[in-house]
Amino acid sequence: ACATVMSAVTTAVDARAPPDRAFLVGMMGAGKSTLGRALAASLGWTFADSDDEIARRTGRSVAELFDRVGEGGFRLLETQIVDELTQRPNVVVATGGGAVLNPRSRARLSERGCVIYLHADPDALWRRTRDDTRRPLLQVADPRQTLAALYRMRDPLYRECAHALVDTTAQDVACATADVLTVLLARIDAPD
Ligand code: S3P
Repeated sequence: ACATVMSAVTTAVDARAPPDRAFLVGMMGAGKSTLGRALAASLGWTFADSDDEIARRTGRSVAELFDRVGEGGFRLLETQIVDELTQRPNVVVATGGGAVLNPRSRARLSERGCVIYLHADPDALWRRTRDDTRRPLLQVADPRQTLAALYRMRDPLYRECAHALVDTTAQDVACATADVLTVLLARIDAPD
């Protein structure tokens, strides 16, 4: 069973969060796609994953895109897709870990839906991604250090655009999903 109805590491949701869409932001390995799918199923909303959507439309994997158009080219595609997905009705969107680097994307996310920062400690992120071969940013000599550096740089950006934070460091998927649901239901039951 989960520790509490809403664990101590989950913050109350900002009352200004638009209640009819949920956007998950956070680092690679935070659990955005896994939780997003479970959340959409619970709410009866649709689910969209920005990486999958980019891959589907271009016919290329994220790794191939990084190879061909560089990280900059990938970020342009990502900004467009985030703009599009965040306008769908009753949708849960799992964003790529770097989606918040663009200030316009951060603003769109915050204005259009309830943004939840799925936070996890760098060590937990490392354990979950260490065997990964699909994420181009981690195919480097010292991926653990890369992950820690990205975390330090991005943690303030995730916090800046999020309406609530749910910590997934020590929680399993079911408990973290329950926390995110509690956050969202607080807004859905009491809009404005
Ligand atoms: C990235 C995260 C990935 C993917 C790309 C770059 C990042 O998405 O968009 O590899 O910059 O953190 P996930 O967060 O879903 O792994």
